[in-house]
Amino acid sequence: MINVGVIGCGQWGPNHIRIFSHLPNSRALMCADLNAQRLKAVRETFTSIETTADYRDILNNKDIRAVCIASPTNTHFVFAKEALEHDKHVLCEKPLALTADECGELAGLAAARKRTLMVGHVFLFNAGIMKLKEYIRSGELGCIHYAHSTRTNLGPFRYDVNALWDLAPHDISIFNYLFDGCPVNVSARGQKCLGTERDDLAFGTLEYPGNTVAHLHVSWIDPKKVRQITIVGEKKMVTWDDLDDAGPIKLYDKHVEKSGAYYLTYGEFRLLSKEGGTTIPKVELNEPLRNQDQYFIDCIERNVPPELADARKGRDVVRTLVALQQSIERRGACVEL
Ligand SMILES: NC(=O)c1ccc[n+]([C@@H]2O[C@H](COP(=O)([O-])OP(=O)(O)OC[C@H]3O[C@@H](n4cnc5c(N)ncnc54)[C@H](O)[C@@H]3O)[C@@H](O)[C@H]2O)c1
Repeated sequence: MINVGVIGCGQWGPNHIRIFSHLPNSRALMCADLNAQRLKAVRETFTSIETTADYRDILNNKDIRAVCIASPTNTHFVFAKEALEHDKHVLCEKPLALTADECGELAGLAAARKRTLMVGHVFLFNAGIMKLKEYIRSGELGCIHYAHSTRTNLGPFRYDVNALWDLAPHDISIFNYLFDGCPVNVSARGQKCLGTERDDLAFGTLEYPGNTVAHLHVSWIDPKKVRQITIVGEKKMVTWDDLDDAGPIKLYDKHVEKSGAYYLTYGEFRLLSKEGGTTIPKVELNEPLRNQDQYFIDCIERNVPPELADARKGRDVVRTLVALQQSIERRGACVEL
């Protein structure tokens, strides 16, 4: 049984508390938040949990082996560093930190202390995203031409980071997983529609090795909640809709062929669209956050690295975010990684 302390009990932290309270091999022992109302609300739901306003009570508690960080982004680095220095295993919400150097420092510290350091890239534990990976890995889609993701809603608004840093870690972690690494260059535009200091939306283009282009649209100011990805391959195309419980994945047997004959001018082929059927594969409906938190606990117990969402993957996402942010500040200029 691994005792876990959760730092940050806002919108998201209580989900971790619920899961660590119910997993067979973990227990949520203590949680910390500066806001007394948040702690009171947690105590009303999780009656046996200890609460504190000082996160150091969690770090100094010898019964607690693992810490889950669900506080604002600008606190992640300091809390993760201190937790590792107290020899705790760490699951840190996305993004791992604000710079690639900070991520590298945390990775080095975790290695030196022989502790598990994992990032909450929860979509890597989503059955639909795993299915997309399966299609790419098996060659079912053929060579990938492009991918496009949409992650929009009206709110919730954040006051610590902009929409890019809040939402795009999900899409970048998914793209990096699907395409086995970081983009080689990116460009992006952002917009401050609501008159605050932070961009409320961003459009980003990420080029991956092999000439695969991925495009993302993240926004806090949109009429519809959308969580969708389209991937277009040379053989088949696939869509993922996280909000479609009936069948989040649709595989389209559609592609384009060149006819043997030249068209109009020499060198220009006639393009023929080929349309077969659409398959809706069975995708196991389970809670990705539960899968993620269980994986974290299992990695600690089995003393194996959390390869799916380790600090290197967290660093890759942060490097990409930094490059996208630089591009936004230069009004869409191409930034190499
Ligand atoms: N994986 C996901 O799908 C997902 C979804 C939502 C949020 N998140 C991540 O979870 C984290 C928290 O997001 P949220 O929406 O719950 O934010 P939130 O603002 O609702 O909650 C953050 C909480 O941290 C507390 N806090 C701030 N400083 C603290 C300190 N020094 N000590 C103790 N507590 C402190 C605040 O009082 C607040 O209650 C963010 O990193 C966010 O990116 C992830």
